[in-house]
Amino acid sequence: MNYRHIYHAGNFADVLKHAVLARLVRYQQNKDKAFRVLDTHAGIGLYDLSSEEAQKTGEWVDGIGRLMEAELPADVADILAPYLDAVRELNPKGGIKLYPGSPKLARMLFRPQDRLSAMELHPEDYNRLHNLFEGDFQVRVTELDGWLALGAHLPPKEKRGIVLVDPPFEENGEYERLVKGLAAAYRRFSGGTYCLWYPIKKGAPIKSFHEELQALEIPKMLCAELSVKSDRETTGLSGTGLIVVNPPFTLKDELHALLPVLKTVLGQDRFASQRAFWLRGEDGGRTQE
Ligand SMILES: C[S@@+](CC[C@H](N)C(=O)[O-])C[C@H]1O[C@@H](n2cnc3c(N)ncnc32)[C@H](O)[C@@H]1O
Repeated sequence: MNYRHIYHAGNFADVLKHAVLARLVRYQQNKDKAFRVLDTHAGIGLYDLSSEEAQKTGEWVDGIGRLMEAELPADVADILAPYLDAVRELNPKGGIKLYPGSPKLARMLFRPQDRLSAMELHPEDYNRLHNLFEGDFQVRVTELDGWLALGAHLPPKEKRGIVLVDPPFEENGEYERLVKGLAAAYRRFSGGTYCLWYPIKKGAPIKSFHEELQALEIPKMLCAELSVKSDRETTGLSGTGLIVVNPPFTLKDELHALLPVLKTVLGQDRFASQRAFWLRGEDGGRTQE
C-alpha cells in the first residue's frame, strides 16, 4: 500500500467526488430519519494543503484552488454550496490551507442523528483518522479492508444510507473489483445509494467497465465523467468518473448544470470534456444520452 491521498487531496477528482457526496448527504436529510455513510476507503479525513507532500504535487491548485477563485453561475453556486461552505468553514481566514476528505466532509454536514462508518487500512492513515474523530460518538473508524466492509457492514442498522467506495487503484483489476464489490453490496442493501469512484487515464478499460456494470442489471445507475485534459501527454489521471446507484432524482439535472461549469473551470486543455448519463435507467433499461 503505497498510495497516500495527501499528494492528491483537493485535486479535480476530489472536487467532483466531494461535490457529489455533499449533494447525496443533503438529499438524505430531506427526511428526518437518521442515515449512515459507509466510507470504505476513507483516507485521513483532513488534509493540510500547505504540507510538503501536498505542495510537492500541487494538484489541489488546479482543483479546489481554481474552483474557489471562480465566478460561478447562481444555480451552480447553489449546487456546490454544501461542499464549498465546508471548505470555507475550515479556512475562516480565507485561502485554502485545510481541505476536508470524504469522512470529514460528510461529518461536517451531519445532523445529530446521522452516522459515519469509515474504513482505512493503511496503519498510519488509520491512526490519523482515528485521532481526528476521537470521542465523536457519531463516527466509527475501523482499521479494516474496505472491500470486506461492503459485505460485513451492510445493511446499516439505520436501513438508509450512502456507500462511498473510493479505492486507490494502485493494483491491477480494481475496475473488476469495483463491479464485484457493488454486486455483493447491492445484494445486501439494495435500497442504499452507492457512489463509486474510478480513474480515467490512457488505456483505462472504461468501456468494458461500463458494460460489466450494465450487466449487473441494477436499475438506476448514473454515470458522471469529467476529463480535464487529453490522456496522450500524461500517464497520470486525465479524468475522473463516478457511478451513482439509486441517485436522488435531482442529481442528473444537477450534474447537467454542474459538469459543464467544472469543465470550464478545471479544464487544462481543449480536450476537456464531460458527460452524465444513465448506465441503467429507472426501468432497468440501458439508456444513454
Ligand atoms: C483515494 S484514497 C481515499 C480518499 C477519501 N475517500 C477522500 O475522498 O477523502 C484511498 C484510501 O484507501 C486506503 N486503502 C487502500 N486499500 C484499502 C483497503 N483495502 N481498505 C481500506 N482502505 C484502503 C488508502 O490508504 C487511502 O487512504
